[in-house]
Amino acid sequence: MAWWRRGERKPAIESKLEDTLGPDGPVIRLQHVSKIFQGDEEDTVALDDVTVDIHRGEYVSVSGPSGCGKSTFLSLLALLDTATSGRYWLNGQATDRLKPGDRARVRNLDVGLIFQSFNLIGDMTVYENVEYPLTLRGVSAAERQARVDAALQRVGLSARAKQRPGSLSGGHQQLVAVARAITGRPAILLADEPTGNLDSKSGEALMEMFAELNRGGATVCLATHDPRWLAQARRQIHLFDGRMVDSPTP
Ligand SMILES: Nc1ncnc2c1ncn2[C@@H]1O[C@H](COP(=O)(O)OP(=O)(O)O)[C@@H](O)[C@H]1O
Ligand SMILES: [Mg+2]
Repeated sequence: MAWWRRGERKPAIESKLEDTLGPDGPVIRLQHVSKIFQGDEEDTVALDDVTVDIHRGEYVSVSGPSGCGKSTFLSLLALLDTATSGRYWLNGQATDRLKPGDRARVRNLDVGLIFQSFNLIGDMTVYENVEYPLTLRGVSAAERQARVDAALQRVGLSARAKQRPGSLSGGHQQLVAVARAITGRPAILLADEPTGNLDSKSGEALMEMFAELNRGGATVCLATHDPRWLAQARRQIHLFDGRMVDSPTP
């Protein structure tokens, strides 16, 4: 063997099949996913060896005490952040193979996000915020208008269409984010404590909307610590200190 090859590590054997799951595979697959945030003093293990499959059309809740990793879990699913180790397949494709531009495209096409941190754009109107994902997707102007009008009506904000998000209450801003998420008719809906800023009536309406989207075939993944909404999910994922556990912890 040539001297320069002697110390060389063998390339990992990577099968093409492993990068792509079959059509009957899960819409979301995490294998041994960990997320560690490095700090000056100490590191935080936000997710610790999480392995889970979520199938098309499932309605899954993610619960656990504050700091257990719910938002981190959903951020990874939404491709807003990357795992420190482990692998994630979305829609049958290994996401570690995606370039940054592809990640945004996949997110825009397949995923609807209702995240507290995934903010509305302040210098666009409510209408424009809701329209934006459709514009990115190349939906025609007439179709955009029909869909945005319907979504705003659905969340009760038609009268606010011309306002900027900053002039709305926290609850109303949350509803704009909801309208933006549903107007794209996403195959996967990820929501991080979406009822947190809402009064109970709006919260119930929102949960009914999620149930309806799920009946229409969407996969829903909802982080919440509100027991009223946990029951609506057909499967519950419980997190504790970043790990998946079998039953809820107090
Ligand atoms: N960007 C970050 N930098 C450092 N630590 C973080 C960051 N995001 C989350 N964490 C930490 O990771 C853990 C999980 O946080 P998070 O996913 O927000 O939990 P939850 O949504 O369940 O309250 C917490 O200890 C939190 O402080
Ligand atoms: Mg959170």
